[in-house]
Amino acid sequence: MLGAHGPPNVGDMNQTHPHNRGHGHDHGAQHDHHRGHGHQEHGHQGRDADAQGEILDLDAEVLAEHTDSITAWLPLTAEPRRIVDLGCGTGAGAFALLDRFPGARVTAVDTSDGHLQRLRDKARALGVEERVRTVRADLDAPDWPDLGSPDLVWASASMHHMARPDRALRSVHDALAPGGLFAVVELAGFPRFLPGDAPEDRPGLEERVHAAADRLHAEHMPHRGADWGPMLTAAGFTVEGERTIAVDIGGSRSEAVGRYALSGLRRIRTGVAGELSPEDLAALDRLLDTDGPHSILRRDDLAVRTERAVWAARR
Ligand SMILES: C[S@@+](CC[C@H](N)C(=O)[O-])C[C@H]1O[C@@H](n2cnc3c(N)ncnc32)[C@H](O)[C@@H]1O
Repeated sequence: MLGAHGPPNVGDMNQTHPHNRGHGHDHGAQHDHHRGHGHQEHGHQGRDADAQGEILDLDAEVLAEHTDSITAWLPLTAEPRRIVDLGCGTGAGAFALLDRFPGARVTAVDTSDGHLQRLRDKARALGVEERVRTVRADLDAPDWPDLGSPDLVWASASMHHMARPDRALRSVHDALAPGGLFAVVELAGFPRFLPGDAPEDRPGLEERVHAAADRLHAEHMPHRGADWGPMLTAAGFTVEGERTIAVDIGGSRSEAVGRYALSGLRRIRTGVAGELSPEDLAALDRLLDTDGPHSILRRDDLAVRTERAVWAARR
């Protein structure tokens, strides 16, 4: 069902290698620090986390309607009260779930202190801080934090990051309450923003950029685009639902689409610059030059096109 290509969301670019993962101190009463690597995200890592955090926020904004349709579709037998969001980033899933299930509390888990801080700030701004607990933990480590006994575990665009997803899926299975549900959500590939014949001087540029990014990422994110159904079954789950949703959001719908396209392509550029022909790199740079006449922000034909897949698996 899913193509084997493409990082699953814009926030993924260049944040794919374990060495890029942030580890830091905990802040705030509701933040549990599970694995003590004991240093803040700072310097390059901190800036990278900030940049990724901004893109994750744009992801959340642009994909909000789709996320809502997924939370509405989940085959739950009762309204969940204890939810865990694995690889929560800045909280796209956590806040959508809190909104959908007003009686629920969410434990949000991530390696990045920067993302968790952003999530806590948002929780406070939304007045839901009492319903959110953040836990900084590396889910690739064999000793998982105590996540209680959740009735719903949500993992969006995060499971493919795991070096040992088989082990992570079994840990989710063990943590879930009997009859609990695990929702795995992934984008089929990095969204496309430009029409296929754009830009005018280098038609097809975006596909060539993604082909280069795919080659680079295939090595250290082998589970991108995976079919999670068989892996969930092997971990002991019963897969009760599987759904693919086409995402096609017109740029005219939201100014966020332009910023999203700009941030996403900027982030890819840092990785693929050496892989592109000089002509393609120059064309990409013209698109990314926000002061120039060819800036992507000046285009009125942008869209966000991809597919989102979700697997709902019962313990
Ligand atoms: C592409 S982002 C998705 C964030 C969020 N779920 C969303 O849908 O916006 C992937 C997230 O997984 C986190 N992550 C990656 N590897 C992880 C690990 N081993 N343990 C915990 N979190 C991890 C990253 O820090 C990042 O926040």
